[in-house]
Amino acid sequence: MLLTGTGRLAPAGVSPWALQMRDGRIAWVGPASQAPDDDERVELGSALVTPGLVDSHTHPVFAGDRSDEAAARLEGAPYTGGGILRTVAATRAADDATLEKLVEARLRAALAAGTTTVECKSGYGLSLDEELRHLRLIVRVAERLPLRVYTTFLGAHAIPDGATLNEYAAHVADVMVPAVAAEGLALFVDVFADAGFFDLGATERIGRAARQAGFGLRIHADQLALTGAAELGCRLGAASVDHLEQLDPAGIAVIAASETVATLLPAPAIVLRDRLPPARALLDAGATVALASDANAGTYSGFGTMPLVIGLGATTLGMTAGEALTAATAGGALAVRRPDLGTLRVGAAADLVAWDAEHEGAFALRLGAVRPVRTWIAGVEIRP
Ligand code: NIG
Ligand code: FE
Repeated sequence: MLLTGTGRLAPAGVSPWALQMRDGRIAWVGPASQAPDDDERVELGSALVTPGLVDSHTHPVFAGDRSDEAAARLEGAPYTGGGILRTVAATRAADDATLEKLVEARLRAALAAGTTTVECKSGYGLSLDEELRHLRLIVRVAERLPLRVYTTFLGAHAIPDGATLNEYAAHVADVMVPAVAAEGLALFVDVFADAGFFDLGATERIGRAARQAGFGLRIHADQLALTGAAELGCRLGAASVDHLEQLDPAGIAVIAASETVATLLPAPAIVLRDRLPPARALLDAGATVALASDANAGTYSGFGTMPLVIGLGATTLGMTAGEALTAATAGGALAVRRPDLGTLRVGAAADLVAWDAEHEGAFALRLGAVRPVRTWIAGVEIRP
C-alpha cells in the first residue's frame, strides 16, 4: 500500500511525499515524484502524518475515583501514599469483568487519540494474587486490541498495610518477581523509588532481582524528592527513569551519559502543582527524552490524551513542537526498548497517524484538541 500526501510528513520533512507499507513495515519513504508503483494507494492530502504515538508510562488497572483527593490537594492537602492504598482497596474489590471493562475503555481511548503503542503497569494490587490478576487482565485485553501493549510489573508501587518496607521489598524481590517471570506476564519491572515509598536500598534489591529474572527495568524517580533514584536506575541499566521533577544537574549529566531514557510526565506535575522536570537541560545535555501521559488513578487520569501531553511538553517544558513530537514517538519507543517503533525509517513498523492538522505546531496551538483522522498499526488501518 502506498500512502501519499501534499502536507507534512513529520519528522521526515519531504513534501509532496510517499510512503510504502509492506508486510507491516515501512518499505519505502521519500518524495512522491520518485515513489514506487503500488496497486493500492491512499491520498492523505494536506494532513500532518506522524508515526503512531508511544505512551510509555500508564497505570490503567484500577477501580474507584479519587477526584475528591485532587480537589483536597488544591486546598493544600499533601500528596501521600494513602491515596494509592485507597485505589488498591477499590481495585481489589472489583471483579474481573468490571476491571477488564475499565482497562479496555482506557486503552480504546488511547487508540482513538493516536496512541499505537502503550506501556501498562500493574501496581494497584500489592499482593501476589492481585498483581498477577491485574497483569493477566492487561494481557487479555491486549489480545483483543490492535494496540501494541508492553506490560510492566509495578508491585513496588506502595507498601501495603501490615507490612514494613523491608518485608514488602523482600517479598516483591524474592516471591513476586519470580512468579511474574514464571508466567511470562511482563517485560519490565518498575519501582516507585521516592520519599515515603521505596528507598534506594529497597529499589536496588528489587531492581537486581528483576534484572536477574530477565526483566527490563523502569524507575519512578525523583518526583517527590531528589533521592538519587534516577542515578541508581542508570547504574542498574534501566530502560527508563520517569518523572524527574526534582532532578539536579548531576542527575542530568548521569542520564545524558547513559543509555537510559528520561521519561517526562508533564500532566501529573501540573495537576500536583509540582516543579516541572528539566526537559530543556536534559535535551541540551544529549539525553534521550520521552514524553508520556502517566495516566493513573490519583495524580492524572487522562487516558487517551497523548496529543495534550505533546502540547504540554512544548508549552510548559521548553521543548520545541518537533522535540515534543519526537519524545512522544521515537523517545517513547526507546523507553520500551523498541527502536523500530515511533519512526518513519525504512524497516520500521508501519504505525502511522494522519491528523486533523497540518503541522506539529497544532499540538501546542490546540492543546489536547488534535485528533487522528486515520490510523494504521503494522500497516493495517484501525477503526477505533
Ligand atoms: O506515577 N508516582 C507514583 N504513581 C503514580 C500515581 C499513583 C497514584 O497516586 O495513584 C504516578 O504519578
Ligand atoms: Fe506513574
